[in-house]
Amino acid sequence: MCGIVGAVAQRDVDLILLEGLRRLEYRGYDSAGMCIVSESGALNKVRRVGKVIELSKALADQPLRGHTGLAHTRWATHGGVTEDNAHPHVSHQRISIVHNGIIENFEALRQEIVAAGIELRSQTDSELIAHLIYQQVSSGHSLLDALAATAQRLHGAYALAVMDRDDPSTLVGTRSGSPLVVGIGLGEHFLASDAGALLPVTRQFVYLEEGDLVAIRTDGFEVYDRSMIPVTRELFESSLNADAVDKGGYRHYMLKEIHQQPDVVAETLEGRIIDNHLVADCFGPESEALFAKVEAIHIIACGTSYHAGLVARYWIEAIAGLPCHVEIASEYRYRSPAVPDNTLFVTISQSGETADTLSALREAGRRDYLATMTICNVPESSLIRESDLAFMTRAGVEIGVASTKAFTTQVTALMLFTMALARHHGMSAAQEADLVAELRALPGQIRSILQIETDIARVAEDFTGKEHALFLGRGTEFPIAMEGALKLKEISYIHAEAYAAGELKHGPLALVDDHLPVIVSASSSELLAKLVSNLQEVRARGGQLYIFADQDADLVASDQVHLITLPVNHSTLSPILQTIPLQLLAYYVAVNRGTDVDQPRNLAKSVTVE
Ligand code: M6R
Repeated sequence: MCGIVGAVAQRDVDLILLEGLRRLEYRGYDSAGMCIVSESGALNKVRRVGKVIELSKALADQPLRGHTGLAHTRWATHGGVTEDNAHPHVSHQRISIVHNGIIENFEALRQEIVAAGIELRSQTDSELIAHLIYQQVSSGHSLLDALAATAQRLHGAYALAVMDRDDPSTLVGTRSGSPLVVGIGLGEHFLASDAGALLPVTRQFVYLEEGDLVAIRTDGFEVYDRSMIPVTRELFESSLNADAVDKGGYRHYMLKEIHQQPDVVAETLEGRIIDNHLVADCFGPESEALFAKVEAIHIIACGTSYHAGLVARYWIEAIAGLPCHVEIASEYRYRSPAVPDNTLFVTISQSGETADTLSALREAGRRDYLATMTICNVPESSLIRESDLAFMTRAGVEIGVASTKAFTTQVTALMLFTMALARHHGMSAAQEADLVAELRALPGQIRSILQIETDIARVAEDFTGKEHALFLGRGTEFPIAMEGALKLKEISYIHAEAYAAGELKHGPLALVDDHLPVIVSASSSELLAKLVSNLQEVRARGGQLYIFADQDADLVASDQVHLITLPVNHSTLSPILQTIPLQLLAYYVAVNRGTDVDQPRNLAKSVTVE
């Protein structure tokens, strides 16, 4: 989604802003722009459709110099992908703003601005905000008061940073529903939608809370709540690594992140299993007492994180014996679910900022849950800050829009969660020891699957000219089939569907002919015989089968059956292992088709609008 960077410094800020935008590229965007107040007090801006590199080329021809500036990457919502719609937007050559989010009362505000005789230069909701703020400052209000008054009129989600040509000593900002962070430097201060944007200039951050307003200057900053009462927000020292955005020699971030999985899964387990048991309070000191009371689980998430939740449902019900409901956040937030007594509400999210998941958490706060918990990858994110319990996956910064290492660490964390619940719900010491042994083996098993990368790259060549694909699995491999289909569609743009293999004959079998590749995740569980029968149904209709099977499955290749044997045995954690070849398959298909692997069209890494 859109990205914001702003700076007030005692030096030129153009390069700081440009590097910030580069670091926000992973969020997904379609145009970029920058506006700086020059020494002579003029607002100068440059905007370009396309990547930050286009903006950077334009800035080489038309440099912007000055000590106060704003920059933005835009992911189009209101209005097409054009230079006029790109941010920053300017009102009356005086007020410049950048905005993340969506303003829902856009039409009413637009009519009001047009009625005031102001000619709009873009189709965006964001430009209206610039004019509303201008109206306030031109009638004598300070920039901060103007922003506060304007924010009160906005319905929807926003993070805003605003600059006034007539007072370049100050930048102001506010947030509601979209993140905004203050970066604290030496004699300079910054605003950004993501701390990662500012790592080259600072490691100290203040995360604004919902409704907060901030004014930053070279020598300090002040934060106010939505009623304009001064407030103090906690200062965080970021542990993020400024080099985390390097590709580390890999061709794409996605490939680097796939290869990081053995290490980050090990990292997620570190200190959480000891000897042959789970560390009792690894979900926080209060978790032990809480988990003893839990009688049901509701898991809410989006996209890949939702698929992680679906895997966990099988485990939680089978191992901990607790009913577990898993739902997409955008559906959950608008219905009235029945909440059984003593239900724990769990969100799963890489970013911790996904708008639907965050809203679902806030909805849950109005319902009768025992407590809320998040499994999340970003320490200072909104989900972490707003949940009662938080469990960190330790995947590190994930840049590729297609989630890979975030998923496998989430599912690993969910096994720990299952065990933490099961300790209070009948799991024996022997069962716990077996699961711990499987977890310990996991990083090595992922590493051995990565060894067959070239075999998978070869298989991927068969998919280059395809437009459709079907993914099948049963049991815990069904959500893995869903995840495999999502990976393939989002980065290669091949239409891919996933089905529980037993459902095939209830409809999707009609799609099968000799052009359709059918990808199967086959683990040698008690469902294997059933799965094999389903595969016969595909074979009989001429379908081409690509089966990823573990060593124990003992399947044989034939004319229509391409068998890729994974060098691992079956285990409870097979769904994690089965994910790796599907990630590699999607990656190599996308590379062969020449798509933008790390930033696929139309998608954003962190979906901070509804
Ligand atoms: O940051 P989150 O895990 O909350 O994001 C949820 C989805 O937007 C995300 O998983 C998305 O589906 C990925 N692009 C899939 O690869």
